[in-house]
Amino acid sequence: MNFHTRKWVKPEDLNPNGTLFGGSLLRWIDEEAAIYAIVQLGNQRVVTKYMSEINFVSASRKGDIIELGITATEFGRTSITLRCEVRNKITRKSILTVDRMVFVNLGEDGLPAAHGRTHIKYVEDQFPDGSVE
Ligand SMILES: CC(C)(COP(=O)(O)OP(=O)(O)OC[C@H]1O[C@@H](n2cnc3c(N)ncnc32)[C@H](O)[C@@H]1OP(=O)(O)O)[C@@H](O)C(=O)NCCC(=O)NCCS
Repeated sequence: MNFHTRKWVKPEDLNPNGTLFGGSLLRWIDEEAAIYAIVQLGNQRVVTKYMSEINFVSASRKGDIIELGITATEFGRTSITLRCEVRNKITRKSILTVDRMVFVNLGEDGLPAAHGRTHIKYVEDQFPDGSVE
């Protein structure tokens, strides 16, 4: 699992208990997962279809640096299934896990469309000439 994105927990991200608000975290995760799906499927018309139960494992506090990890676990005909983990960058302590997030690839008509992908594409596969370093 690659942990590409880091976030710095700021005062506006907190709940009344002084810890990271779950809604802020879910917004970050949905965006991160959508970007992952768009890159993997090579299509910007991708929508969130399903999220499995979300396990808030431990709290995060103001000033923490957290990192979001996503990996693809399954490629369907029109869908891609992802797994997500958020952890504290410094301590590596897990903050949240989502076992299954399903995104659906859409065609121009807004209906599910076959994406033709079967496995994870890594940056070196996408830019074989090394143009992105
Ligand atoms: C996404 C949407 C077009 C799919 O329509 P649908 O009628 O369910 O489409 P299908 O039945 O053909 O299923 C499409 C894929 O989703 C999968 N799927 C459908 N329902 C699912 C569910 N509850 N859980 C997991 N996967 C599901 C199917 O297995 C299929 O995958 P596959 O082709 O890889 O086998 C439609 O449900 C929709 O527009 N939902 C709203 C999306 C949205 O607004 N998201 C929030 C903003 S991004």
